[in-house]
Amino acid sequence: MALRNIREQGEPVLGKICKPVKEMTERTAELIEDMIDTMYEANGVGLAAPQVGILKRIFVIDTTGEDLHVFINPEILATDGEQTGQEGCLSVPGKSGQVTRPNYVKVGAYNEKMEYFELEATELFARAICHENDHLDGHLYVEKVEGPLLDVTYDEEEEIAEE
Ligand code: NI
Repeated sequence: MALRNIREQGEPVLGKICKPVKEMTERTAELIEDMIDTMYEANGVGLAAPQVGILKRIFVIDTTGEDLHVFINPEILATDGEQTGQEGCLSVPGKSGQVTRPNYVKVGAYNEKMEYFELEATELFARAICHENDHLDGHLYVEKVEGPLLDVTYDEEEEIAEE
């Protein structure tokens, strides 16, 4: 298990467009393992490669603690509906804000074996996919916050999913 340093808002790497992964290498496989470890260690529900300083189109999500997915070169194929709720980000520690996202997302991506898959997600999983996908294009949720960015108190911390 290897943990990587989570980059925080203000670091240039979080504002850049990530490059597609062409093939699975030992180095990329290790990156993915480290991203998973780092996400769980930080109690996050998602983590994108630029958040650990790597400009590759990869993110990992687990919204329940038992539903891990690796997304490589993801494309959002369809969206529907709307959900508005509090969002947080491991790269913006101690903050949360209200963001509106699609309530349904269909996404196509490659897994860690470079096998193509499509999946449909709703609610928190759909929100996480949109949030992480934004990271791959250099965007943070704070750009989309409706109203103030709030300080998260200790009591609330466990209720707001950090991505
Ligand atoms: Ni994030």
